[in-house]
Amino acid sequence: MSPSNKEQHSIRDMQIADLEQVVAIEQLISQSPWSLKQFEQSLNDSKVLVSADKIIGFAVIASVIDEAEIHNLAIHPDHQGLGLGSLLLDDALAQLPRAIRLLHLEVRASNFPAIRLYLQRDFVQVGERRDYYKTEHGREDALLMSKQVGIGKD
Ligand SMILES: CC(C)(COP(=O)(O)OP(=O)(O)OC[C@H]1O[C@@H](n2cnc3c(N)ncnc32)[C@H](O)[C@@H]1OP(=O)(O)O)[C@@H](O)C(=O)NCCC(=O)NCCS
Repeated sequence: MSPSNKEQHSIRDMQIADLEQVVAIEQLISQSPWSLKQFEQSLNDSKVLVSADKIIGFAVIASVIDEAEIHNLAIHPDHQGLGLGSLLLDDALAQLPRAIRLLHLEVRASNFPAIRLYLQRDFVQVGERRDYYKTEHGREDALLMSKQVGIGKD
């Protein structure tokens, strides 16, 4: 699905002043939420999706030499399913340094929306970590996914 009012959304670098809103979203969507300090330490790798002056999503993608890892990606629950996760991910990936050749991520094996999103973008499963994540009832596996890339911006 594509966002119906795409023009009302903007994507920009995350700033310190955004952290409170970002953490509030994280606490709504994550079973093991990042702390404000974790976001602060990742500020240089982070983008936010803004609508009507409010943060409604964020992406944290760290690059090292020719590889990048998606550390976090989220859309506020009130705005999910509208194409905004796709919009944010595509924009963040398009802005990666030109040197990036390989993207990685880890995702909960039960997180079907995220897995579908990544499969649609040609990520493939390359491994798994057994019992990697805590759940309410025990533990669950992480799927390791990756994608070869070629073109970005400097
Ligand atoms: C994963 C997430 C970022 C997707 O954002 P979104 O804005 O809801 O996604 P979009 O509307 O752009 O949908 C993109 C694709 O995601 C998948 N998807 C989204 N919601 C889904 C759902 N409820 N069930 C199954 N697939 C879903 C679909 O493949 C969809 O494409 P389609 O509509 O063409 O089928 C969002 O669900 C989220 O924030 N989840 C909680 C945090 C999280 O799990 N992050 C990923 C950590 S690795």
